[in-house]
Amino acid sequence: MAEVTYNGLTFEPYITRDAIAEQVKRVAAEIRRDIDPGEIPLFLCVLNGAYIFAADLFRECGIQNAEIAFIRFKSYEGTSSTGKINEVMGLDTDIKGRTVIIIEDIVDTGLTADHLRRKLLEQQPKRVAMATLLFKPDSLKAGEAPEYVGFNIPSKFIIGYGLDLDGLARNLPDIYVLKS
Ligand code: IMP
Repeated sequence: MAEVTYNGLTFEPYITRDAIAEQVKRVAAEIRRDIDPGEIPLFLCVLNGAYIFAADLFRECGIQNAEIAFIRFKSYEGTSSTGKINEVMGLDTDIKGRTVIIIEDIVDTGLTADHLRRKLLEQQPKRVAMATLLFKPDSLKAGEAPEYVGFNIPSKFIIGYGLDLDGLARNLPDIYVLKS
């Protein structure tokens, strides 16, 4: 894998598509194990970044009766969090008494995840859990660690497999890290 450049920034290969697929499989098995028989869980994909992970994870879970819905937040500009969370697209599915699995691409400061969890808990679901492909534990400022994590990574900026730099690079099948 070669380096890639976006907006004048150079990124080097970091996590291969095969390694991603392996962790998606493991996380899916963990989620499946925790779903009670007969339940119809709602997977809640946080757009935009999680859409590729969500598509792979949702299918890999292989739960016969499961729903997926989408919500959109924006907190990043360039390579850092603005600290402000803007909800762009809201949730219109009833979650009372249901298991909700939030699907995130990455948990960085945790502000988005914490905000979303609180909002969902107001609607009295049975359980809210979070699955994230990537988690930067050293950056966490708010809320709890996600229940299901693909990779723990250091606090570096990454792109690919859904993650972007100002809208670009989401279509890279592998993950790249900003060169220091
Ligand atoms: P948080 O609220 O700081 O946890 O950040 C949540 C959102 O910021 C993620 O869902 C991503 O969209 C974005 N984000 C955080 N870290 C990165 C990164 O390294 N690359 C690309 N986007 C990121």
